[in-house]
Amino acid sequence: MTKSLLFLTFSPRSASNSSGLARKFIDQWKSANPDAPIVEHDFGQTPMAGPDQAWIEANMTPKEQRSSAQRATLAASDKAISELRAATHVVLATPMFNFSTPWQLKSYIDNLVRNNETFGFDPETGPIPLLDQKKKMKVIWSSAFDYAVGNDMKALDQLTPYISTIFGFMGVTDISFVGSGNAWASTEVAHQFRSKAENELANAAPTW
Ligand SMILES: Cc1cc2nc3c(=O)[nH]c(=O)nc-3n(C[C@H](O)[C@H](O)[C@H](O)COP(=O)(O)O)c2cc1C
Repeated sequence: MTKSLLFLTFSPRSASNSSGLARKFIDQWKSANPDAPIVEHDFGQTPMAGPDQAWIEANMTPKEQRSSAQRATLAASDKAISELRAATHVVLATPMFNFSTPWQLKSYIDNLVRNNETFGFDPETGPIPLLDQKKKMKVIWSSAFDYAVGNDMKALDQLTPYISTIFGFMGVTDISFVGSGNAWASTEVAHQFRSKAENELANAAPTW
């Protein structure tokens, strides 16, 4: 299979834990896949604007009837969708904010989820995912606390279920999560959690 990677980061922080982990993983993945093209965006530093009235009207207008202004309004969203469609592999690096996604990631997602683009709709059967189900996604995320399965905090985690739900809705179901939790614990514990995530990513890089 010819691989191609879309690499997206969503932390607004310059010294980001999630972006740093992801960059290290990308370097390791590149060594194993030296010819694979990589498209990269730092949407944490340069976020996409979310849908406003003009965007929604343009999106609701049938494609062939859109004015040039409406096509321009949707251009960034069209580009984000075509990059997602083209990639066989997607790495998404994000912090947890208030148990969910930072707004920068939500804004990106709001630009992707479009009828007749990433999902279809059949009045008889309901929504139909339109993205290639063979696409692989790796989500590298960072949080202050630990949300491991079996931990009481797990019930508060709205980030990983939401990402699974919304990308699954579009057809991306092969999603693996690597979390670097406990960033606000003692230096020693935070370091242990980061090392565990680094090892998991280093082990995955040659074969993912
Ligand atoms: C606005 C804001 C909200 C946050 N909310 C949570 C939260 O709900 N749960 C959590 O565990 N950590 C939370 N954190 C902590 C970050 O997830 C944590 O510091 C993470 O390591 C940041 O990732 P980054 O270094 O990639 O930006 C929050 C941080 C900020 C700035």
